[in-house]
Amino acid sequence: MKKKILITWPLPEAVMTRARASYDVVAHGDDPKITIEELLATAKQVDALLITLNEKCRADVIEKMPENIKCISTFSIGFDHIDLDACKARGIQVGNAPHGVTVATAEIAMLLLLGSARRASEGERMIRTRSWPGWQPLQLVGQRLDGKVLGIYGFGKIGQALAKRARGFDMEIHYYDIFRQPPEKEKELGATYHDSLDSLLKVSQFFSINAPLTPETRHFFNKDVIEKLPQGAIVVNSARGDLVKDEDMIAALKSGRLAYAGLDVFAGEPNLNEGYYDLPNTFLFPHLGSAAIEARNQMGFEALDNIDAFFAAKEMPFKLA
Ligand code: DGY
Repeated sequence: MKKKILITWPLPEAVMTRARASYDVVAHGDDPKITIEELLATAKQVDALLITLNEKCRADVIEKMPENIKCISTFSIGFDHIDLDACKARGIQVGNAPHGVTVATAEIAMLLLLGSARRASEGERMIRTRSWPGWQPLQLVGQRLDGKVLGIYGFGKIGQALAKRARGFDMEIHYYDIFRQPPEKEKELGATYHDSLDSLLKVSQFFSINAPLTPETRHFFNKDVIEKLPQGAIVVNSARGDLVKDEDMIAALKSGRLAYAGLDVFAGEPNLNEGYYDLPNTFLFPHLGSAAIEARNQMGFEALDNIDAFFAAKEMPFKLA
């Protein structure tokens, strides 16, 4: 008899087809979005859960998880929506999907850099609001990327993939991470290491946030950090919204301390801080980082790999807890 799994959100066809070939799939529709109460109720009838970052499995939710659930796999690299300690305490194994997102997210970070530097959304708005008066020498003048220092905070797979792409635009790559890359990797990516965030901030004309959200990194991007960047720096975030203290970012964009921000992720998605909506010097996306079919397929396969391994009594390939 096939094991039963709950998939909380419709996934790409290739992923659903593979899931259905191996499992009896209970698929929650996307309308309305699954509530935590529905998740907990359905969990009683299944053997494993394949969730997304929308389902916030905090400690209080994990405590209410029925005893039959010993496997949760998330269709995301990020796992800040799952309380791993609570899962460990309940003997629930957890896995994520860490590789599929890499290139797609680096591409979005690159797009944020380009779109912010070249004021893409302001130009698009001018056309769509039928307010373009025609070409003008000083209209929407931004800046080039070449020769500029890009500081990357968080130099994991996505940070490195961004470095590779930004080098194609002749940017100078600097990075800070708690893990320093080996010299061969730094050479390959032409990346200069900084042994502190402060040191990286000082040189970053462009600053890209690529770190995971943890209790230590939450709101790290605040007024004090902004003050250490060069005047008029451009900041992009394709990691998690909660890394940024929105009020401080918005104040710095309003005052011109920061020239521009390109943001793909927000605290409290989809309810952005109201201050962002009318700021002209922002380039904003609705969490598109991994929204490429190649990425979404691979994310689904990785999430299923964890579940397959769990039922085969093997170590999950992307085990978190
Ligand atoms: C992830 O996988 O955590 C991404 O944020 C999804 O786009």
